[in-house]
Amino acid sequence: MTMQNNETVQALQWTGNALKVLDQRQLPEKIVYDEYKDADGVTEAIVSMRVRGAPAIGIAAAYGVALSVRKHYAQSNHWRQKVTADIDMLAKSRPTAVNLFWALDQMKAQLAKQHDNPPAAILTCAEKIHADDLVANHKMGELGADILVGAKGVMTHCNAGALATGGYGTALGVIRSAYRREPIKVYAGETRPWLQGARLTVWELSQDGIPATLVADSAAAWLMKSGAIDWIVVGADRIAANGDAANKIGTYSLAVLAKQHGVKLMVAAPTSTIDWNIENGDKIEIEQRNQNELLPACYIKDGSLVNAWNPVFDVTPAELIYAIVTERGVILNPSEHGVRGLKNAI
Ligand code: MRU
Repeated sequence: MTMQNNETVQALQWTGNALKVLDQRQLPEKIVYDEYKDADGVTEAIVSMRVRGAPAIGIAAAYGVALSVRKHYAQSNHWRQKVTADIDMLAKSRPTAVNLFWALDQMKAQLAKQHDNPPAAILTCAEKIHADDLVANHKMGELGADILVGAKGVMTHCNAGALATGGYGTALGVIRSAYRREPIKVYAGETRPWLQGARLTVWELSQDGIPATLVADSAAAWLMKSGAIDWIVVGADRIAANGDAANKIGTYSLAVLAKQHGVKLMVAAPTSTIDWNIENGDKIEIEQRNQNELLPACYIKDGSLVNAWNPVFDVTPAELIYAIVTERGVILNPSEHGVRGLKNAI
């Protein structure tokens, strides 16, 4: 795995004429990059979870639009209609991460302008979304690390790292920054059923020289009871205006357990993860994925009496969150202070 500019592992790389996507389904056993040259391919990469994690999904979709413009502008006078159809297709790839829709809105706004060279202008917009996300993650890392000063142990859930973003990570960015100041003990929940914690987070941290201890999701309460952690740090897929936060299934359970054990919960997410249009988390669409991601193989057959319920996100109410960390600032006790104040902050 090449690390550019001394940075962390890279989920996405723009080659100059294609999008390279690290196939996260194959990690950590195999490091395989696939190249995509059109929006259909990028849509498939998101649907199949070769690329996953809210900000990375948004960035990939932005490059998908850039690839669409590049393809259709050269071939058709009706290129705008074809690009619009590709945007609609990309928007259907996954429902919960609002970064996807935010990024597509940015791209649509650029498309609505007149450009001498539309393919170049639209690509520049995608590259800016990618670069800005990396900058935001570094800012969140420092802001979050300020809050973690003195912590002896943190637990994270899912993968909210470089693999899920434009680089450095949201929750893992905070953990990276905190660890660089003073080593802390890091625990990662395995994150059933897709095992983002077991396959991605501990691998990503080890690539960066940060030791991590993997725990079964079901060990979280006992870990908290042991006194080993004082913080849980997670990312988010969509944050409502009141601070309710959707994240990987199991985050809500951790938040409830954290309250019982006096452990604090930090949600680190860029403002592109905030859905200013919804008042609370009840309005967030929760993705249900195929039951076969959860079912043991022996039950995947016609006539089986065993099926599975597989929601892949849940919503943690703001009252269980101690701090929301964004690149524009930190909100403590988000249940008392809504997040709207961040909208026009620098
Ligand atoms: O289903 P996934 O792997 O896309 O879910 C990812 C998460 O839930 C992450 O915690 C979230 O997107 C934040 S990533 C910085």
